[in-house]
Amino acid sequence: MTKPRAWPRVCAHRGGAGLAPENTLAACRQALQSGIRWLEVDVRYTADGVPVLMHDETVDRTTDGRGAVRQFRFARLRELDAGSWFSSAYRGERVPSLEELLELLVQYPDAGVYVEVKEQGEEGKRLAQQVLDLADRWGLVERVRLASFGAEPLLRAREVRPEVTRVALQDAFDPTDPLEFVGLRQAHVWGPHHAAVTLPHVQALHGQGVGVYAWTVNDPDQAVRLWQAGLGEHPEDCVATDFPNRILRAFCGPDAGKGRA
Ligand code: G3P
Ligand code: CA
Repeated sequence: MTKPRAWPRVCAHRGGAGLAPENTLAACRQALQSGIRWLEVDVRYTADGVPVLMHDETVDRTTDGRGAVRQFRFARLRELDAGSWFSSAYRGERVPSLEELLELLVQYPDAGVYVEVKEQGEEGKRLAQQVLDLADRWGLVERVRLASFGAEPLLRAREVRPEVTRVALQDAFDPTDPLEFVGLRQAHVWGPHHAAVTLPHVQALHGQGVGVYAWTVNDPDQAVRLWQAGLGEHPEDCVATDFPNRILRAFCGPDAGKGRA
């Protein structure tokens, strides 16, 4: 009998942005407690150089404040409410530091995180190195994946911690061939928008030992399409989704979700 094909890893994008306020500890905790074992978060710097979880350059969309994250000192950023915009049930949720997330992850020994470095250029390099230093300090190097749309953070990560798996995120409008794109960045995993994933791409990448991380897959039919295109055959294959519960159900049936990584 042939062994059934594995499903790709399911990752809670921004901590599970469809189910809780994105990039908060509440979202990450909720995902972990529901059995999700991989998170994705976005990281950028405050004015005083603290790596915090925030997708946008400004706090406007996801807090009750206004202005660029880089204009806030960490103590001031902490005064903002990062939960009420999503639902009053999350009122008072704070913008977390990356370090707080790593502290949470220590409590879940089988869980891991994709940290997307949102800073670019020199700041991106510095932040990538700092992410890996923090991961080391918390004993989490093996459970961290370093992701970026920029080449600099990935190449710096390779210099300082070559053993850490690096995900080269590719913009949906960038026509570069995936193998060339990943090769230029010396990454282990290709990270395209899910619509860009095809069976020939996946076969070519897997053939070179490169995994595929597809974002952001909120439609279960798309998740199944990715599996049919070969995702799951490489141990680093992953789909990032705002609704991990939906995607797990599509992969594993109605009883899915309890402990599936
Ligand atoms: O994981 C990659 C994905 O998060 C990239 O898009 O804009 O949600 O950070 P974005
Ligand atoms: Ca991201």
